[in-house]
Amino acid sequence: MTEHLVIQRYTKLSMTLHWLMLALFVGVYACIEIKGLLPRGHALKGVLLGGHALFGIGIFLLVWLRLLGRLAPRPAILPRPPAWQTAVAHLMHLALYGLMIVTPLLAWLMLNAAGKPVPYFEFALPSLVAVDPDQAKQFKHWHEWLGSAGYWLIGLHAFAGLFHHYWVRDNTLVRMLPKR
Ligand code: HEM
Repeated sequence: MTEHLVIQRYTKLSMTLHWLMLALFVGVYACIEIKGLLPRGHALKGVLLGGHALFGIGIFLLVWLRLLGRLAPRPAILPRPPAWQTAVAHLMHLALYGLMIVTPLLAWLMLNAAGKPVPYFEFALPSLVAVDPDQAKQFKHWHEWLGSAGYWLIGLHAFAGLFHHYWVRDNTLVRMLPKR
């Protein structure tokens, strides 16, 4: 029997990181959305922006561990989906990894270019670019654009998982759930 037929679930590391990442995304989006609802000058705005950055940097740090986790053998989807669906899923995963790496990186560059510090607990992240207000605006635009596109990417990804589970009735979702 080949190896991929034996493995039924992702590794504990991949599963933990997958669901932890979801929690961090909820934190990232909740903070920025609630901040947007508060009136100008509200005391909580700064706290929420800090929370947004904290969760976002958490995503940026953990994504490398997730990529490392992908080196482990992954369980196959059974019954096997058509090749086009596998190709779309690979593209979607690439886009999601792009979101987890590029979005926080753009925020980091945006704050650097605006001359603002990027603190993370006890540490201050190093400056990657020189202060340049015009460039800061560009980075902010791209960060917000990609961050907003993330709603669609994550929404489609979740929809696909639920569709496979409840409609196609294959093991796509179960592979990412701990054994009961
Ligand atoms: C995957 C991680 C992240 C996602 C998905 C994300 C998403 C977003 C979104 C959707 C917005 C736009 C809100 C709007 O249009 O009003 C935004 C704004 C912003 N983000 Fe992020 N973000 C992430 C990481 C970070 C990190 C790591 C930092 C800081 C180090 C950061 C700092 C900011 C700032 C300063 C703004 C502008 C807030 C404002 O001016 O109101 N973000 N982010």
